[in-house]
Amino acid sequence: MKFLILNGPNLNLLGLREPDIYGRQTYADLAAFVQAVCAREGIECEVRQSNHEGVLVDWIQEAYGKFDGIVMNPAAYTHTSVALLDALKAVSLPAAEVHLSNIYDREDFRHISYPGKACVKTVYGKGFAGYEEAICFLKNYIQERKETR
Ligand code: DQA
Repeated sequence: MKFLILNGPNLNLLGLREPDIYGRQTYADLAAFVQAVCAREGIECEVRQSNHEGVLVDWIQEAYGKFDGIVMNPAAYTHTSVALLDALKAVSLPAAEVHLSNIYDREDFRHISYPGKACVKTVYGKGFAGYEEAICFLKNYIQERKETR
C-alpha cells in the first residue's frame, strides 16, 4: 500500500509558527514521525509540503494510479479551497484529513473544510498523533474495501 501525505501552507514553519497552538516540534520532526508510522504499518509513503494551492492540486492529480490513498493537512487552504476538494473528487482516491489543532475551538472561519467534504475521515486537535490516527484509519478502510469486493 502506498500513501501520499500532503501538507499545506506554513506547515514548513512548524516549531517557529505559533508554538502555543502548533507546538515546538519542526516540520522535519513531523515528516520523520509520519515516515516512522508508515514504516511500522508496512505502508510506503511520500511526505510533501507546499505553500502553493496549484502545486497541491497537481500532486493530487498525479497521485491517480500511483498511490492508494492520500492523507492531507491542507492547512489554511482547508477553509478556502474548492480546487482541492474538486481535485480529490476527480481522482476519487480514499483520503483522510488531519489538523494539528482543534479547528472547531478556534475562529469561526476555521470551522468549514472544503477538502474535508471528499475525505472519509477527519482528525483534529491531536497534534502529530492525528496523522497516525488518519494513516491507520485509511489503511483499514482500504483493506476492508478490498475484502468486500
Ligand atoms: C491547521 C489548521 C488551519 O486552520 C491552519 O490554517 C493551519 C494548520 C492545523 O493543522 O491545525 O495552517 O490545518
